[in-house]
This record gives sequence, C-alpha cells and structure tokens, in this order.
Amino acid sequence: MSGSPDSHFQFFNDPVRGAALERLDLERLPRHVAVIMDGNGRWAQSRGLPRTAGHKAGIAAVREAILACDELGIGWLTIYAFSTENWNRPRREVDMLMNLFASTMAAELKGLEDHDARVRLIGNLSALPDKTRRIFEQSIAETKDNKGLTLTMAVNYGGRREIADAVREIAERVAAGELDPSSIDERCVSSHLYDPEAPDPDLLIRTSGEQRLSNFLIWQTAYSEFYITDTLWPDFDRYGLLDALVDFQGRSRRFGKVDGS
Ligand code: IPE
Ligand code: IPE
Ligand code: MG
Repeated sequence: MSGSPDSHFQFFNDPVRGAALERLDLERLPRHVAVIMDGNGRWAQSRGLPRTAGHKAGIAAVREAILACDELGIGWLTIYAFSTENWNRPRREVDMLMNLFASTMAAELKGLEDHDARVRLIGNLSALPDKTRRIFEQSIAETKDNKGLTLTMAVNYGGRREIADAVREIAERVAAGELDPSSIDERCVSSHLYDPEAPDPDLLIRTSGEQRLSNFLIWQTAYSEFYITDTLWPDFDRYGLLDALVDFQGRSRRFGKVDGS
C-alpha cells in the first residue's frame, strides 16, 4: 500500500541518498517498472565467492525493490528472474536457482500477502521442478484478489517464446474460425501475450552495466525508457530505484511526436 509523503521520507531515510526524494514528482511516477536483475555472478566473484552466493545476496535487493514500489504506490513491478536461455548454465547453478526461487517464495509469501501484493508469473511454468512450480502456483492463487502492487516474476521467460506462443494461439483461433485474419492488429497480438492485463513498462532498469534486453519483454518495451546502472544487482537498493525514478522523470517521452505538440 502506498504511503504518504511523510512515510516516504521515513522509508528513504538516508540523509544523503534519500535527498533524491525531494526531486521526485509523486504525481508522475511510472505505472509499470520492469527490472533485469543482472550481475549476481560478478558480485560474488569479486568477493571470491561462488556465483550462487551472488544469487542468494540478490534476494535482499528484490525485497528492496518490492518495498520501494509498494511504498511509492507504483502499481506494477516485473522482475526478470530466469530466462529461457539460462537453462544453458551449469546444472548446479540452475538447480540452485530453482531451489532458491522455491524457498524464497515460500518464505516471502506471507509478507507479500501483508502488503496486499498480487503475484503473477510470465514464462513457462510447466518446465520448472515440481516444488518450484507448486509454490509459484500457490502464490498466484492465494494473492490473485489482492489490490496492491502486482509483482510479476519472469521465470523461464523469453520474449521471442512469448511472441511465438501468441502467434500460435492466434493461428489456432483463425483455424477454428473464431478470428478473422484481417482483425489481427497490434492490440490483438498484445491480448495474446502471457499477461494481457499488464500495461507496457514505462521504465526498464538493467543493473550491471549491460546494454541489452537479453530477450526480456521485447514486444512490451517498444516505448519504455531504459535506465542502465553499473551497480550489480545485490548492491541495488531502494535508493538505486529512487535514482532510476528521478532519471526517468527527466526524460522526454515523445512517442514519435515532436515535443510540445
Ligand atoms: C543475474 O545475475 C541472475 C540470473 C540471470 C539468474 P547473473 O547470474 O547473470 O550475474 P552475472 O551477469 O554473471 O554477473
Ligand atoms: C538476463 O541476464 C536474464 C536475467 C536477469 C534473468 P543474463 O545474465 O542471462 O543475460 P546475458 O547472458 O548477459 O545477456
Ligand atoms: Mg548476467
């Protein structure tokens, strides 16, 4: 649930880094923030730790992002947790991540409920280990009527896979005589994506300095503002998000038009 300006100052209470709050226009916040949480491996390696330690440390950053969006009343937060390409990592790392998703979701579900958050998933759940899939399904079911932040996790998600799945569904409806090919437009494609209710992200954040989409929301980010920070994901906190929001508000979103027209 979103707090008042006073509670925002308590939440962002670092005297130095919290000062950015004064530059934030609470009336012009993005409706949907999407995050490519990158750099866990490098964070760990720079400390002489195994990559998996970076994934564990990244959980605190996820919590920070959720709390900050909730505090500010941002309606939608989508986080990229595992891509369709991430199966190509060493088996040990993939297994660890799947276990971490399950244990973290189990541990955090109550807290998400308390914040009235609604959990959603995009990606192919059926390919996940049973334990992981079940806790995700339970979280989606138990929070579906909540009215606060919609937290969407992209797990076994690929943007190309999502579009291919949408095309297949559309083709099936055409073949069944339910849909006229001449009515297939952008809105029709959008309505066949994994979560047709989700607005397109206004702001896309990527940590660790990489300047690419890595197959994340390739349809939906057509007009998103990109914010790339060198901060590695486990070091990204509420103030990192605040900086991204302030930067976002300095952008001129023209959508192909001319400023002021
Ligand atoms: C992001 O961190 C987490 C996942 C992809 C699951 P990485 O594991 O990609 O970390 P780097 O990019 O190797 O540092
Ligand atoms: C993107 O990060 C996927 C997630 C954050 C889940 P990667 O680390 O997999 O992306 P690349 O390989 O650097 O493009
Ligand atoms: Mg990476």
